Parts: sequence; structure tokens; C-alpha cells
Amino acid sequence: MCGIVGYAGARQALDVVVEGLSKLEYRGYDSAGVAVLADGKVAWEKRAGKLANLTAALAQSPPMAGTVGLGHTRWATHGAPTDPNAHPHTDCGEHIAVVHNGIIENFADLRAQLQAAGHVISSDTDTELVAHLLEDEVAGQSAPGAGSLAAAMRAVCQRLDGTFTLVAVDARDPDVVVGARRNSPLVVGRGHGENFLASDVAAFISFTKQATEIGQDQVAEIRADSVTVTNFDGTLAQVRDFVVDWDAEAAEKAGFKWFMTKEIAEQPRAVADALVGRTDAAGRLMLDEMRLTDDELRQVDKIIVLACGTAYHAGLIAKYAIEHWCNIPCDVQLASEFRYSEPILTRTTLVIAISQSGETLDTLMAVRHAREQHCRVLSVCNVRGSSIPRESDGVVYTHAGPEIAVASTKAFLTQLVSCYVVALYLAQVQGTMFASEIDTVLDQLRAMPGAVEEVLEVMGPVREVARELAAEPCVLFLGRHVGHPVALEGALKLKELAYMHAEGFAAGELKHGPIALIEPGLPVAVVVPPPKDMAVLHDKVVSNIQEIRARGARTIVLAERGDAKVAQFADTLIELPVVPPLMQPLVATVPLQVFACELADAKGHDVDQPRNLAKSVTVE
Ligand code: AGP
Repeated sequence: MCGIVGYAGARQALDVVVEGLSKLEYRGYDSAGVAVLADGKVAWEKRAGKLANLTAALAQSPPMAGTVGLGHTRWATHGAPTDPNAHPHTDCGEHIAVVHNGIIENFADLRAQLQAAGHVISSDTDTELVAHLLEDEVAGQSAPGAGSLAAAMRAVCQRLDGTFTLVAVDARDPDVVVGARRNSPLVVGRGHGENFLASDVAAFISFTKQATEIGQDQVAEIRADSVTVTNFDGTLAQVRDFVVDWDAEAAEKAGFKWFMTKEIAEQPRAVADALVGRTDAAGRLMLDEMRLTDDELRQVDKIIVLACGTAYHAGLIAKYAIEHWCNIPCDVQLASEFRYSEPILTRTTLVIAISQSGETLDTLMAVRHAREQHCRVLSVCNVRGSSIPRESDGVVYTHAGPEIAVASTKAFLTQLVSCYVVALYLAQVQGTMFASEIDTVLDQLRAMPGAVEEVLEVMGPVREVARELAAEPCVLFLGRHVGHPVALEGALKLKELAYMHAEGFAAGELKHGPIALIEPGLPVAVVVPPPKDMAVLHDKVVSNIQEIRARGARTIVLAERGDAKVAQFADTLIELPVVPPLMQPLVATVPLQVFACELADAKGHDVDQPRNLAKSVTVE
């Protein structure tokens, strides 16, 4: 939540920062602001609303020339999204400007202390307090100037409770941008004669692909020609450099109306990429980033999958594959609830944490808890170098490429594929499947990019029905077995994009309550299990469809191509390619993504930046 950019180099900082913010706007879009150092002063501008409001204001203001600066796009925590609460925030002397991502939990105490000491606090934010705390720290140093802002930042961070990425500039230390992080993301981009600080590499990828991870409780000081990273205690930090493995174009809309439509269309490629390099020359599965030894994996007798939102739905589906292929009991928990449920964990419990961003704080905290209890943690993540993989024992990257739209699409499909690969690897190590059986499933997975492509080619009727239903107040989703999490995911997509009441149910539960919701005309989307391989469940779902139709529901049926038994009960039939039951979520989810995207577009919503949401949820 919140996107942060800092720049020190030879270019006009304002241009670099605004361009960076445009790449980070998916992280928060309540308000935006920039600050630039020039002529011994800090100049800033900030506006409530989307980045466009800020750029319009900048176009009306005197030019902000200077080669050192910072910027912020906000998802509000403390204080409403107004101009005064937008970042950056300044100190009383207006030398220092600060931007922040996170929540400072001892906000009330610090505010009282600062006010008692005579500071004038002019916003409702926790962030502004940092500007005043830095002001006092810098003033307390013998010689404000070179190096003092980083020292002040280290001292201030030690007084803060909570989560934060902070980036600050001081007009008296004009060549420097300082960043700090605890539990929120911050990376350095290393250019030639210029350096960057950002919440995400997307902010600087058009300038450099060379990046450095900033660890927990570290402060980075960037200048045009140097990067220095220290721990909060002032000692030099060990840092890890990496090269960003995607191009700037990957984070562009490339002619699509929305990032979401582009990311939906990219799914065949993303699924294929998630499978690249997973076998050795002999055809045996290998996971080179895994970092867990086969001996450790052989001992695993229980698996807990932890995730939030869409990633949680991927986990719910993965459970079926894990239990079926590995014969290991698998529990799937919402990461935000995990710590508070007194989970029974042992040294032979494997925790799998699924997260697109790798920064979701609920998931990160759950990972920490599991590791404190001596569990092994394997993360399934998309963003290289993010916090969750850094803090896990092993990682399997999903290789989906940048996902910019707030609603997760290609990340979900690649999470599924990656979890399946992990399950097959465990089956290989624990000997619960023959090599030939693993090969068969791998072949099924390799056929999935083609199957997803097929689905994408026939989305016309889905778009049509989405537009017809744009004025409906509610849509229900039903499914069974792996189709149940697909129904949950379809409902989540519709809630977040179309702001409609949408619920996913296990179809078997219908008669236990939800059927009372059915009334004439209510749209119900039903994911039907394959008729041959899941004949019993298939027939039960067909009966459910008849039951809801008898009560007047309008049925949108997602069923395997050629499923004659169900076709007659569909007001709208969406045909899916014939795939094995465990693969069905990979094809059945796609029409539901398209449905939500189209419906939201028909309602005139901003599909990529739905209200109240942010892509990366870095507060608990
Ligand atoms: C999905 O459309 C959502 N925006 C959201 O549920 C998301 O999946 C969740 O916040 C988890 O994010 P993560 O995968 O980055 O951890």
C-alpha cells in the first residue's frame, strides 16, 4: 500500500519521480505528492485523488527544477485522503520532506511528545511526525549536512513502532535521499550516475534493471554516485543485488484498455513461463530456488497453506492436489487468522505461503510465526526479492511477470501451477507417485497454456452477459470440489471490481441456507465438474442447477464442452475445454475474470484501480 520513489542523479528529479509514481499508482491512489531539492530549499506539491490531479497541479505551478527528489502515491491509513494529509510531509523549518508507507503504531504518544516540545503538527497523519522527529535529530547533531540525514533516520526509526518504509530528503544535505524499511518494501535501483529508491522495481525499470534488496531494519542512503546501506545500529549491512528479469514494456498497457485485460490475455504465456525449467535432463522435477533439502521434505507429515484473498483461493485448490498426489494432510488458512488460531505446528510441518507481491503483511507475519515455531516455510511468490521469500526457507517463483491491475489474474493461475509443481515435487521425494504418473501430470500442465488460450478465444458470450447484468444488485457463484474455490474467486473478482454483492458457495451447501436467496431473475454462475471424471459430483451439480432454475434463477453455466446433460439448463452456457478435473480451475477461472472485468467496465468503474483497494496490502 502506498508507492514511494526517491531519486538522486543528473536528470530532472520531478520527471523521474512522476514517471515512477505512474508505475506505482496501483499501490494506492487516494492522493499523490512530490518534493524536489533546489537552491537550498525543498519544493513540494501534493493533491488528493489520483496522480492525474497532481500532474494537473504541477502543470499550473512554477517549475520544480532539481536533480534530487521523492514522491508518493497514497492509500490512506491515518487521516482522510485530503490535500493536507497527502505526502510528502515537512518539518516546522520546512527543510525536510518525508513520505511513508505503513502505520506508526505509537503515533499518539509521539504526537503528544512533539506537540509538548513545541512542534506544530498540521496534518492528521502519522507520517508528519517522522518529519518533526528527523528535525529534532538533525538539530541535535553537531553539524547538520553531509551524512546527517541517514544518522537521524537511523535514530528516529528506533523510536517507531509498527511498519514503515520511509524516504526523506533534507535541503541542507542536498545530494542525498535516505530510505528506511521495517516490514514494508523498499528496493534500490542502481544506474550510471544516478540511483533510485522505490517500493517496487517497476518505478525505475525504464532507467535500470540493476537492483539491491534492502533488508529488515536497514537504512539506505543514495547519492548520484553511491549507495550506502546500514543497519539501524549504524553498522554496514550485507545487501543482495539482483537483476530485474522483465522489461519496462511488460509494465505497459500495450494497447489494452486496462492492465487487467492485458494480464488476462497474458495468462497462456504466464502459465507456460511458470513451468519453464522445472525438469532436469533426465526429466525429473527440480526446483532450483527451493532451498529445502530432499531430506527435509521427506520428513514433512503435514502441510499448512497460508495466504490472503485470491492467493488463498489458489491454496484452497492446491489442497486437493497436495492431498491427492502426496497423501499428506493439508490445511489451508487465511494468513490474517493463522497466528490467532493457536495452530498445531511441529518441526515436520511444512508451511506454504502464497503471495503475488511477497509483501502482504498478514502473510509475512504468519510466516514469521511459523518459523518461530520451527516449521519449514516455502513461499510461492511472484516478486523477486520481496519480503516473504526473503524470510522463507525456500521459494518457488511463479514467473508471472509484473501484475499491475489490483485484481489478481495471471498471478492466480501461475500460483496454481506452481503449487501443483511443488506438490508433484513432494510426491517425487516422498515416493507417493510413480515417475510415469508425475510425467503424465506434467504433460497435462504443459497443455494448459493451449487450453487457456482456447478459453480466451470464445469470451464473446461472457462479455455479452456481463453487460446485460450490469444493473443487477447481486450475483451468486456455485461450485463443488475444486470448483468451489473457483466460485469464491469469481465472487471476489466481482466484489472488488463491480462493487456488487457477490457470494461463492459450495453447491452442496445450497440446500442448507443459501437457496433462500434465490428469487426470479437472480443471476447464478455455476462451475460444473467434468461429466466423465467426476460423474457423481457432476450429476449433483446438475440437480442443483435444476433446483435454482425451478425458483426462477438465471443460470450462467460453465461446463465442459459437449456436456449435453447440463446444457439444457443453462440460460447462458460457457463451454470449457476438456481437461482433467484438477486442471479445471485453470480454465474455469478465466471466464469469471473476464465477466467481472467487463461488468465493471460496463458500470464505468476504474477496472485497474478499484475503490478502497491497493495491490499490495502492507498493513495488517
Ligand atoms: C485479488 O484480486 C486481490 N486484489 C487480493 O485478494 C490479493 O490476492 C491479496 O491481497 C493477496 O495478495 P498477495 O498475493 O500479494 O499476497
